[in-house]
Amino acid sequence: MEIDFWLERWNNNQTGFHQTQVNPYLSYFYGNKGPAAEQREKLKVFVPLSGKSKDMLWLSQNGYKVFAVECSDRAVKGFFEENALNYKYAEKDKHALYQSSDLASIIEIFQGDFFEMQQMDLDDITDIFDRASLVALPVEMRQQYANKMAELQKPGVRTLLVTLTFDPAEMNGPPFSVTEEEVHALYSENFSIQKLLFKDVIEDEAGLKNRGLTALVETVYKLVRK
Ligand SMILES: C[S@@+](CC[C@H](N)C(=O)[O-])C[C@H]1O[C@@H](n2cnc3c(N)ncnc32)[C@H](O)[C@@H]1O
Repeated sequence: MEIDFWLERWNNNQTGFHQTQVNPYLSYFYGNKGPAAEQREKLKVFVPLSGKSKDMLWLSQNGYKVFAVECSDRAVKGFFEENALNYKYAEKDKHALYQSSDLASIIEIFQGDFFEMQQMDLDDITDIFDRASLVALPVEMRQQYANKMAELQKPGVRTLLVTLTFDPAEMNGPPFSVTEEEVHALYSENFSIQKLLFKDVIEDEAGLKNRGLTALVETVYKLVRK
């Protein structure tokens, strides 16, 4: 899934992956069950392959700083405009950096290729939220993605990773099925891995059911960079 594939999806409004509600696992693990409100201003959450996800808005409204990467300028502008956030734009090397200019929200989105990011870009990141990011990539890109993640993070950075598992014979991705075995193969060298929960979600995913899936499990992991 090269960048051109995604730019075309955004240009043709083929964005069925976009959710109008905040992700329930994010609000559970980073809401009341998560860090105390007074600690959150010290935490900066990286959202890779962010699209225009409402999760960024929720994180910001709940006291976290947000840094994201997304290749589509349409998605990035859409995020700020649809959420009525003022933003500034700056060129940074080959990339563009969009920053909210409202005092109440600290959201920066790096518009460019995730695979071109440098370690210093994620210098002050404490947490990562990966929903529809790893699973957006075909198998040959997932190892490259996991390696890049390891390269970018400092020890101790926590990731909340959401995967989907289904029979790949029933549907071509994206999203792609990622098994628990694959999560271990991708991450265990550089990360500790804790499986937090799994849930049968086929009845909640009418779009994927229409594409042929008869069973679908969502699994949530906590990874910590060693
Ligand atoms: C399946 S969508 C998920 C978006 C978001 N995580 C969400 O939950 O709505 C994947 C996103 O990754 C972006 N993307 C794909 N490859 C990328 C890359 N190499 N660098 C930056 N963004 C990328 C696409 O434009 C798309 O918005």
